[in-house]
Amino acid sequence: MSSSKLSVVVTRRLPEAVENRLVELFDTTLNKTDTPFSHEQLVDALQTADVLIPTLSDKLDTETLAKAGKQLKLITNYGSGYDHIDIEAAHKRGIIVTNTPGLLSEDSADMTLALILTVMRRFKEGSAALQSGDWTGWSPSAFLGTSIGGKTLAIIGMGRVGMAVARRANAFGMKVIYNNRKPVHPEIERNLNATYIDKLEDMLPMADVLSLHCPNTPETHHLLNTKRLAMLKPTAFVINTARGSVIDETALIDALEQGSLAGAGLDVFEKGSQVNPRLCGRNNVMLLPHMASATKEARVDMGEKVILNIKTFELGHRPPDQVLPRR
Ligand code: DGY
Repeated sequence: MSSSKLSVVVTRRLPEAVENRLVELFDTTLNKTDTPFSHEQLVDALQTADVLIPTLSDKLDTETLAKAGKQLKLITNYGSGYDHIDIEAAHKRGIIVTNTPGLLSEDSADMTLALILTVMRRFKEGSAALQSGDWTGWSPSAFLGTSIGGKTLAIIGMGRVGMAVARRANAFGMKVIYNNRKPVHPEIERNLNATYIDKLEDMLPMADVLSLHCPNTPETHHLLNTKRLAMLKPTAFVINTARGSVIDETALIDALEQGSLAGAGLDVFEKGSQVNPRLCGRNNVMLLPHMASATKEARVDMGEKVILNIKTFELGHRPPDQVLPRR
């Protein structure tokens, strides 16, 4: 092992090809167990590594980053969302942070459409009845769902994933409306056949399906709260493949229980893997374990992007996917 190699610590298991390449290129310490790092392990890595490769299971808040050693220069997050990292605090300490944008959009959009179809067409109930042996054959009145074609899909956050969802929704004959910090370029809007609605409150009553694709920031925390949920039609469905905290989960469950919402498809939860039991067991709710971007292809691409960012940094250049503090 050459001492001139950058020392790199990886906090979770990554695809074998990615781990092998990291070991070839750098003085790499892998996590062979895939157990998320404890706070102590994370601090230890921050004090020994030149480069840390964390994932969303590693909370790198101000206090934790304050314990980083002077040798830590780069945090190359394996993932596109970085709300678990205090970018400002890292920046102040001279630590560059990068992410893996643009690689997960298509897979995440596929899963969003899968959730829309699942809840609107009642896949969960149909499959459960069949698998439990309760299905006695076709009936004209059984498992009646809601048609997708002609319905209005309201997208919050027209970034890469939002756009990929809009393209798919077009193919299903949905009408696409969206709310974003600002409208996208008119040509993109035309291509996506999407209409910008300036005020979120104006868009909510128009939605048959509301799909969230905004990052988790202080401004979007509980964006969908009791007041805004009440603006949705009782026949509307809510889909979330973004981050759990953008919805007030208790308010969402209340709305589902009161019947003021038709259903929900959720891939992410407010308390991570601690899913509120009130969400479980509901026929009109499809829950997935944060797997919207979970494809073999995406995970390898993410690893390659992480390596590219480290190599660029090693060569003395600005890594292409540097994340800067918000102004
Ligand atoms: C991300 O990258 O932020 C996804 O949510 C996890 O793959």
